[in-house]
Amino acid sequence: MAYVLVTGGTGFIGSHTVVELIKAGRDVLIVDSLINSKKTVLDQIKKITGVKPKFIKADLVDENAVTRIFTDNEIDSVIHFAGLKAVGESVKIPLMYYQNNLISTLNILNNMLAHGVDKLVFSSSATVYGDPASVPIREDFPLSATNPYGRTKLMIEQILSDMAKAIPHVRFSVLRYFNPIGAHESGHLGEDPRGIPNNLVPYVARVAAGILPQVNVFGNDYKTHDGTGVRDYIHVVDLARAHLAALKRLDETNETIERFNIGTGKGYSVLDVIHAYEKAAGVKIPYVITERRSGDIDACYADPTKAKEILHWEAEYDLDRMCRDSVRFLEMYPEGIPEDASF
Ligand code: UD1
Repeated sequence: MAYVLVTGGTGFIGSHTVVELIKAGRDVLIVDSLINSKKTVLDQIKKITGVKPKFIKADLVDENAVTRIFTDNEIDSVIHFAGLKAVGESVKIPLMYYQNNLISTLNILNNMLAHGVDKLVFSSSATVYGDPASVPIREDFPLSATNPYGRTKLMIEQILSDMAKAIPHVRFSVLRYFNPIGAHESGHLGEDPRGIPNNLVPYVARVAAGILPQVNVFGNDYKTHDGTGVRDYIHVVDLARAHLAALKRLDETNETIERFNIGTGKGYSVLDVIHAYEKAAGVKIPYVITERRSGDIDACYADPTKAKEILHWEAEYDLDRMCRDSVRFLEMYPEGIPEDASF
């Protein structure tokens, strides 16, 4: 069987999706530059599935490397996770974000056309809704971006829309993720950022584990039930399964492009998350209220009806389960997944 090419397949969402693909009997080819992930994730995937997926270390900005991947391997479809994703960094080094996220995607699209690969699932983000006028957010809400990272997602969505209009045989599924958290229930895979995390849950996890002293809650004067920011946290395994549903849909539909919100439809505040995590970890989590983080919005949660109706997918796991799985991962790997394969 031909491969599902998974770019960014050693990353947080990518690795969980690879596990689900292998469990579904698919042959997976992972391509990753390893700049934000570790090669030993492949061993972790094997611990869970019994299969070590084929892996190529490559930077997708390198056009020749991408061409070689498509020339040397029979590829059925692509799930394109790879990309830079730190909002603050994208404001400081915008060119790196445009260069990396756009060129890598163009290289993949060019090679898909050249090699007759016609199915792509793209990792977009709820960030493309900017500051939404209301919640829950539907797919037909106006799109905007407030930072270079978000603009790369929006630009790629526009590129795919233009291609879908021009080329009748391609199929694109654009998944707009809300806030993925949690970890694999085995404890062998989880979110493993380098350095101090930017996102809430990996930060809270490190405070709960005693690695960081306290959570900084970025503002408590938002228009939400307790004043702290509200988001739609989704278990990474639920999110991973949405990609399998999207691949199935690409085999069945005549639509050239479809866009889906991948969230639970429920909004939780920063304090809700801290309290759920305290319950899961069985420890008190100290926090202080600090200034708002620039660019943050009051509330962001999905209307996931379209994904339910068309992809026949919906999230199964609740916030408590997300926190419990995250706690287990950090208990098993307090220093993160080791870099050295001999562990
Ligand atoms: C962030 C990005 C978003 C990206 C997503 C996934 C920003 C502004 N947005 O979403 O574009 O798609 O990650 O990578 O960075 N919070 C704290 N203290 C912390 C960290 C976060 O109070 O130490 C709060 C935030 O103000 C927010 C909530 O927790 O209300 C969630 O933050 P975060 O996990 O960073 O996700 P988003 O900002 O929603």
